[in-house]
Amino acid sequence: MDSSLNYNYKIVRQFAIATVFWGVVGMLVGVWIAAQLAWPALNFDIPWLTYGRLRPLHTNAVIFAFGICGLFATSYYVVQRTCQVRLFSDKLAAFTFWGWQAVLVSAVITLPMGLTRGKEYAELEWPISILIAIVWVTYAVVFFGTIVKRRVQHIYVANWFFGGYILAVAILHIVNGMSMPVSLFKSYSMYAGVQDAMIQWWYGHNAVGFILTAGYLGMVYYFIPKQAERPVYSYRLSIVHFWALIFTYMWAGPHHLHYTALPDWTQSIGMVFSLILLAPSWGGMINGIMTLSGAWHKLRSDPLLKFMIVSLSFYGMATFEGPMMSIKTINSLSHYTDWGIAHVHGGALGWVGFITMGSLYYLIPRLAGKKQMASMALVETHFWLGTIGIVLYIASMWIAGVMQGLMWRAVNPDGTLTYTFVEGVKATYPYYVIRFTGGLMYLSGMCLMAYNTWLTMRGTKSVDARIPALPSHHTRPQTAAVPDHA
Ligand code: HEM
Ligand code: HEM
Repeated sequence: MDSSLNYNYKIVRQFAIATVFWGVVGMLVGVWIAAQLAWPALNFDIPWLTYGRLRPLHTNAVIFAFGICGLFATSYYVVQRTCQVRLFSDKLAAFTFWGWQAVLVSAVITLPMGLTRGKEYAELEWPISILIAIVWVTYAVVFFGTIVKRRVQHIYVANWFFGGYILAVAILHIVNGMSMPVSLFKSYSMYAGVQDAMIQWWYGHNAVGFILTAGYLGMVYYFIPKQAERPVYSYRLSIVHFWALIFTYMWAGPHHLHYTALPDWTQSIGMVFSLILLAPSWGGMINGIMTLSGAWHKLRSDPLLKFMIVSLSFYGMATFEGPMMSIKTINSLSHYTDWGIAHVHGGALGWVGFITMGSLYYLIPRLAGKKQMASMALVETHFWLGTIGIVLYIASMWIAGVMQGLMWRAVNPDGTLTYTFVEGVKATYPYYVIRFTGGLMYLSGMCLMAYNTWLTMRGTKSVDARIPALPSHHTRPQTAAVPDHA
């Protein structure tokens, strides 16, 4: 049969399964390092298992493996369905899958060995970094190639967000990755001193802005209207907040470098742009939540919508907290403390994790030719385990963070410090145990998802769906909703 008449679901299915697999791995390492902070003996005195080596393994596994595999799966699905064509090239798409898995396996091997470039979220050494660049450019060719050969005139807004994320990550990765190799496994950044720090956090913050935000907004704009069976609340707002978001994010990086050698005015620019960011961020959150107008009752019975809407609430929370933390005086309290970790995981577990899970619960049955997941009761249980887990995680880290900040700055009348550092560590101990418990619950939910995915997909083959015949009005811009036939 002529494959151009069908959507390529095989690649979506491969990435969807990879997302679930890496989710379990990445979160397991997260729970392990959380346990190590409470019970340090858990590194068993083995260098590969020390906190310093497993921590980057955790961040790489959750962001680049779980996070980005989820974005590959959903962007490949959405771009095909909304453009009504098969992917630009099956072979190149398959290369992105195997190439990306090769990157991830290399990370799992090299990070515990202690091989690292020492830049947060850009740890992988230069040969792997070059492979990332090649895979990413191929991803861009497949994605934008599909947009170019689309059969509908309008480019649906979810594709704008996916496209923005793909383009920005290519630029960020290549610019920040510039380094001078000295051996096969060691390289040094091409930038020095404060310039290096500035480039690194321009990269780091935009990784938040474009991977952990724009990419997932792409999911929001397709899967929420689909699941709620409602049009996007305001299509105009979706376009306006897209441009505002991508313009503003680019300038906010210096808020990671308050009170450093970076020129003061640069820090202030970072702070001001971070405050401005509240508006476009909330534009997206409000647009997503309001898409449920007229369908609120569905929240009672539909666990997929629960994942999606709670995810947007955490997005709203993290994007309110972030601008506040970028105010210099507040940052002087929060920086270096577990408050930052609470902020990160409100965004990561609540927003990124939940929107991915909600979207995959929509996708997985369709990729297996079924109507819904094998067990909806398990989806519901996953939702509650996850939600309670997040609350335990972030509430404990907020309390610990503010406490640490206040203890570190407390001084006696004679100017000496009231507390030694180790007293702060001791006071944090119970909160680390609570965080570990919350993390364990979140991980258990993820394991239920893996089991449910297996139940749903077991015995099924990848079936490509047929591309529908174009309706006669296909050249009309579709503005209000995800088109029915997509
Ligand atoms: C079971 C779930 C998880 C647990 C128990 C967990 C635990 C941890 C721990 C203990 C740390 C180190 C904190 C520190 O250095 O004080 C950490 C860091 C981090 N985690 Fe997780 N994590 C989980 C899931 C995730 C997910 C799903 C993501 C992203 C999508 C994520 C992203 C990060 C990031 C970006 C950092 C670095 C934060 C920073 O440097 O400020 N985590 N995590
Ligand atoms: C308007 C949006 C946001 C702003 C202005 C913002 C601002 C900030 C600030 C000020 C910090 C602390 C910097 C420091 O003291 O070192 C931070 C850290 C962080 N934020 Fe956000 N944030 C926003 C949204 C988000 C979202 C949605 C996520 C998604 C997960 C996220 C992930 C992170 C991560 C991973 C870090 C830790 C970086 C590191 O030090 O390793 N942020 N953010």
